[in-house]
Amino acid sequence: MYSLMKHTLSFFLFLVVAAYTLPVWGQHNVRIIHGPYLQNVGTDEATVVWVTDKPSVGWVEMAPDDDSHFYAQERPKYFDTQIGIKRISSLHVVKIEGLQAGTRYRYRACAQEVLEHKGNQVIYGSITSTDVYSKAPLAFTTLDPAKESVSFAMVNDIHGDNARLEKMVGMCNLEQTDLFLFNGDMVSYSQDQEQLFSGFMDKAIELFAGSVPVYYCRGNHETRGPMASQFKNYFNPKTEELYYMFRQGPVCFVVLDCGEDKPDSDVEYYGITAYDEYRTRQARWLEKALKSELYREAPFKVIVCHMPPFGGWHGELDIARKFFPLLNEAKPDVYLSAHLHRYVRLEAGENGVDFPLIVNSNKTLLKAQASRSQLDIRIYDLEGKETDRLLIRK
Ligand SMILES: [Fe+2]
Repeated sequence: MYSLMKHTLSFFLFLVVAAYTLPVWGQHNVRIIHGPYLQNVGTDEATVVWVTDKPSVGWVEMAPDDDSHFYAQERPKYFDTQIGIKRISSLHVVKIEGLQAGTRYRYRACAQEVLEHKGNQVIYGSITSTDVYSKAPLAFTTLDPAKESVSFAMVNDIHGDNARLEKMVGMCNLEQTDLFLFNGDMVSYSQDQEQLFSGFMDKAIELFAGSVPVYYCRGNHETRGPMASQFKNYFNPKTEELYYMFRQGPVCFVVLDCGEDKPDSDVEYYGITAYDEYRTRQARWLEKALKSELYREAPFKVIVCHMPPFGGWHGELDIARKFFPLLNEAKPDVYLSAHLHRYVRLEAGENGVDFPLIVNSNKTLLKAQASRSQLDIRIYDLEGKETDRLLIRK
């Protein structure tokens, strides 16, 4: 009897100890499930975005691109904060400032799980990070207006076709591509975070987006669905708007946000959109942008906007009405658009547009190279055959 009680007590103690020491079935350490990827890389800043599977605090560790091992010393940490508090979230966004232009940096994205608050006490859990041990750390280069040349690529209207995205990116020499432009309709609608990543962004991250910056020009399809209003949490997350400008080497890029194609009152939008007012406000920004030093002093000026100013639908007509008088006056070198799922090329003077205009198809890749004296834009089909070329010399 005594022996039975002893064994029962021992078994009970084992269960108590096991409950506290063995991992609970189904529990696991925090993991990075999407990213990291780069946003808003500028001359002195960059934003890193990634997603974990559990609420956590996030930070980026930065190291110069020298011969030292990433583990050689403690690296400066840049935390994901808001009003002075580290954000507890599964979506992590860190803006790193004070960087040097045209400089390559290595980085590591990290997260530590936050289990709970007990009064003012914070109980932390497991930590995760991107790999800097078994492979080279992720790295990127800041923009540099003094750079002699720039090479960039543009894809658009992928509508969630990862295979097409992979094929087009595979046609680019990533070592020599300074940046990618995603010119809209990368998904057909914005359902949820998983659809956004599985639709195109996971593939972009796998191929380049952690080390080659992507600049996103929103299409009209990203404006649809329950996730649409959260688009900016993932793209341009630390900027005011989705329209913006930047310069790399000899090219100033002005990225516009076209909004929807039908009138705001259309039944398809269920009363949720207000793009007429948005485009009016954007035109006021564009007027200033086109007068800025950044624009005026760049040897080449490229406008990026998902919709062309023709086609006869309301969004296109509103762009023609509000943006094009300003653009015709500022005379950029080229307008790069998408949306129509067919290739269109206009020469300066056609259709009331005083500069060349390209509508890239959903099945063609645009690659371009610019020096201070020429901008060379080439279009390739999915077999890699060059189908058009626009060469602008100055
Ligand atoms: Fe579109």
